[in-house]
Amino acid sequence: MNRIDLAAFAQLAPSLRKPWHDGYYAMYSSVLGGVVTEPALMTLPLDDHMAHRGDAVFEAMKFVDGGIYNLRPHIERLRRSADAIALALPVSLDDMERIIVETACIGNRREGYVRLFVSRGPGGFDANPYAVCGSQLYVAITAMPPSFMEQRPEGARAGVSSIPPKSPMYARVKSCNYLPNALMKKEAVDRGLDLVVAFDEQGFMREGSTENVGLVNEDGVLTFPDPDRMLRGTTMLRVMELAKDTTGADAPTDAVFRETTRADIERAREMLIVGTTWDVSMVCQFEGKPIGDGRPGPVYRALRERLLEDIRTNTALRTTFGTEP
Ligand SMILES: Cc1ncc(COP(=O)(O)O)c(C=O)c1O
Repeated sequence: MNRIDLAAFAQLAPSLRKPWHDGYYAMYSSVLGGVVTEPALMTLPLDDHMAHRGDAVFEAMKFVDGGIYNLRPHIERLRRSADAIALALPVSLDDMERIIVETACIGNRREGYVRLFVSRGPGGFDANPYAVCGSQLYVAITAMPPSFMEQRPEGARAGVSSIPPKSPMYARVKSCNYLPNALMKKEAVDRGLDLVVAFDEQGFMREGSTENVGLVNEDGVLTFPDPDRMLRGTTMLRVMELAKDTTGADAPTDAVFRETTRADIERAREMLIVGTTWDVSMVCQFEGKPIGDGRPGPVYRALRERLLEDIRTNTALRTTFGTEP
């Protein structure tokens, strides 16, 4: 067997580069104590409990035109997730914000994603969270592919997931224990769909694998399921504010949390998908049946436009950064 020491690793590193690494711009690691831009060095110790137990919390946010959108709500949700699993943050939220901005700056792009992780930390390979040297922070700056609706303007084909939703305690925490979410994504791909949506034992709609799902009902009200039984999406909360602030014939009459079932989906005028990667997208078909007339509806169009404008121009929600000279 090849034995690889540090010198051999340095020689090997260039050959470890893969085509998808083109979209990996920079990574901060508290284990390394700095930022790397060489993808072969964007690694995690295997004994970090994030790797072998999923014992960690994370966030993903986007930056557009050199401004990170909703940075504070994301890091505050990260803090709530960490509190829920008694995970001490390794730095203050202000220091975390500074590290994110400096890493984005070194990433040297105007558009992309910030992927933020706080892990239980390295130390032994068993489940004991007390057996670690301390929590760690990792921040990766990566490319942003074109949005779903740009690639598929006719909308998403969705269906019912066979994967049971997480219990409320785990659904509210954005932990790195995302096996049900990954299996939902696999199910969607295997069925040739764009997403599947989980329903609980009572038949109430919950969420997609990494997105919240809402309905525009027969009265024109935008509804999202009980926020205590799923992840409170930063996009969903902002879209609800924008919906309440939008007037005119295309605007929803209200935006509320209300439990919904498959029967409500069949009656809905529109079905919306909201999330950091999806912005506001629409479902054209659910289990093969059209939603409304199956075409992009007025509430979808109005809210998508409002959200995209917010992402680009709302100085109160944008954290801007420079790029390296
Ligand atoms: C399970 C789940 N629900 C909803 C969302 C949407 O949250 P946000 O709008 O903050 O991206 C995500 C985001 O990744 C998620 O993982």
